[in-house]
This record gives sequence, structure tokens and C-alpha cells, in this order.
Amino acid sequence: MTDSALHQPHISSTAPRYWALIPCAGSGARAGADGPKQYQALAGRPLVAHTLAAFAATPGLAGILVVVAPGDTTLEAQGLAEAVHVADCGGASRAASVSAGLAVLHTLGALPQDWVLVHDAARCLITPAQIQRLMAACADDAVGGLLAQPLADTLKVGAEGRVSATLERGDKWLAQTPQMFRLAPLQRALQASGPTVTDEASAIEAQGQRPRLVAPEGANFKVTYPDDFALAEAVLKARLASTPATEAV
Ligand code: CTP
Ligand code: MG
Repeated sequence: MTDSALHQPHISSTAPRYWALIPCAGSGARAGADGPKQYQALAGRPLVAHTLAAFAATPGLAGILVVVAPGDTTLEAQGLAEAVHVADCGGASRAASVSAGLAVLHTLGALPQDWVLVHDAARCLITPAQIQRLMAACADDAVGGLLAQPLADTLKVGAEGRVSATLERGDKWLAQTPQMFRLAPLQRALQASGPTVTDEASAIEAQGQRPRLVAPEGANFKVTYPDDFALAEAVLKARLASTPATEAV
């Protein structure tokens, strides 16, 4: 070892940890259900139970935090709060709920350089393999990234009910979640972007960064409209049917 190497400042060798933050405080207006969509029954369980099961089965997570609306005790009442932390600090927008959750992560012991995987509660088709795919793809990335699906359809711009332009689709992706960024830069980016930003990547992009795009390999759509419940249920049931009984959990 050279003399200069001996006098290098101490660099912490603590590996960053991975936390999941699940915003679950929306009202689900577009889904038109009787109550928040994340609690509607889907394949025999509340929709969010499928989301939480995927994260609980993902190795390497330091903790899972679910952000619910103030006073919402549904997770506890349904027996879904055992393997996760629940904070009823949800805000008026998704970004506000995520920002409130990031503050709570600090109280759980998360460090500024730790990775945070933000995932919509309503995106209940996520699998441990998809989560691990994103973690592996971004672990050595300077910025972080997100699951996203290359666009399949031709993309039109509409004006007054008519097509005003057709966009080149080759470079277009549909942003999904999880979206994985380091805690402190994500907090700063969301604070700068304000409450209207609809995903974490947009806030990071506004800081001049270019998040990595990772294809999910398999369905990972968000339950948004009334028809999506039946579609999501069909995917879940098909997966169960193709899983050998010994592997089903
Ligand atoms: N979310 C949240 N806090 C909000 C709004 C949304 O935690 N104030 C969460 C939702 O619970 C959902 C995720 O963010 O899991 C994605 O948002 P979205 O699909 O838009 O859900 P909702 O806002 O509930 O639905 P809608 O926009 O149709 O009202
Ligand atoms: Mg919404």
C-alpha cells in the first residue's frame, strides 16, 4: 500500500440498503368503485394484498413502508400490516404522499444514500422477479431508474377530437413502478417539483438526470379504470393456475 493510499480519507463501506415505499392513500376516482380501489376484492383478497405479498417475498429489502390516508386503518383491520410499516400520512396528491413517506423512512433508520423503490399500491401485478430485475439493473447506476414498457401502439396527438399529429413510437416508453432512486436526491427532487408531478422519475429528470429504463417482462399495469379489475384478476388467476401447488404461497 502506498503512503498516499494510507492517508486517503475514510470512505464508509456501508452498502446502501433498499427500502420499498408504497403510496396507498388515493381515492381511486377513475376506478369508480365503492371505496378506494386498493381495497377492492381481487382474486379473493384486497387488491393491495397482492402488491404487498410481492414485496414481502422479495429478498434484500430493509423494510416496506405503506403510506395510507390519515385515519385509514384498513390494513390493520384486514391483517395486512404485520410484515410492513404503515404511516397514515398520505397527502392530497401522489407526490405529497410519497414525500411524506420519505420523511418517515428516516425515522425507520434509512440513510440518505439508501435506495428507495416507490411502487403504486394499485399496481398489484408486480412480481418479486420484476422488482429484483429493477434492483439488479440499477444497483450500480449513478441515477437510478424505473420499470417501463416500450410502447406497442401508434401514438397520436389529439386536438378537438381529431388527430393533429402521429408521433414516432420507437423511443416512447410507458412509465410504471417501482421507481428506484436514492433517498436524499429523491427528496430534494420532489421538493423542487412540487405536488403535481405524477412520478418520481419526472422529478429526477427535472434535476437534469436521466433515469434508467428497465422493461418489466410481464404484465405490470396499474388498476385505474373499472375494466382493469377483471383484467388484473384474470392475470393473477392465470399465474396461480400455472404455478405448481408446491410453489404457490
Ligand atoms: N396515491 C396516494 N396518495 C394520493 C393519490 C394517489 O398515495 N393522494 C396512490 C394511490 O393509492 C395509488 C398510486 O398512488 O396506489 C397511484 O395513483 P393513482 O393510480 O392515480 O390512484 P388514485 O389517485 O387513487 O386514483 P384516481 O387518480 O383515479 O383518483
Ligand atoms: Mg391519482
